[in-house]
Amino acid sequence: MNLGTTIIKCRHSVRKFKDTNIDEWIIRDVLECARLAPTAMNIQPWLFGTITDPGLKKKIAGLTDHGKFIADAPVCFAVFGEKSAKYYLEDCCAATENMILALQSYGIGSCWVAGDKKDHAEPVRLLLNVPEAYTLVSLIPAGFAADITLPEKKDIGTVTFSDTYRAD
Ligand SMILES: Cc1cc2nc3c(=O)[nH]c(=O)nc-3n(C[C@H](O)[C@H](O)[C@H](O)COP(=O)(O)O)c2cc1C
Repeated sequence: MNLGTTIIKCRHSVRKFKDTNIDEWIIRDVLECARLAPTAMNIQPWLFGTITDPGLKKKIAGLTDHGKFIADAPVCFAVFGEKSAKYYLEDCCAATENMILALQSYGIGSCWVAGDKKDHAEPVRLLLNVPEAYTLVSLIPAGFAADITLPEKKDIGTVTFSDTYRAD
């Protein structure tokens, strides 16, 4: 039994949340885990927003196509990447997953909601008054789960290979 891999394996996207707030110290720890993620050349090209204001969450939810449940999450994190950094997307994705797993370690559910390449990226940036040098990479609504669905995952044998790939 390994605590780290158990936390990773127990994570599932959560889109329905209980009306229970997340403690401030947990939010702080999640942000700590975000800023400690690996980045290309250690540039750390990011900004992390924590949105708890109900009006703002509702507006963000309304701007997205597949993130309407953001309105009902106690907290929504927003990860912004500095566009001038070559690997900002990879860096911010690493931070996003760190946050999701940190939340999971506290028994808090969340869901990665796409930001990069989406029409709502610029309106969300403007809404949150984030400088133009940054672009939205992801939104992470989070809270204690009211419901979880378990999606099918591909079998390990179909998505892995050792040494050189052989199609059987
Ligand atoms: C880059 C990325 C973007 C995603 N965007 C959305 C989204 O906009 N809305 C949503 O409900 N889920 C989104 N998801 C969550 C996926 O739908 C989810 O991870 C997938 O169905 C597998 O389920 P699981 O997370 O429970 O393993 C996104 C996930 C990733 C990695």
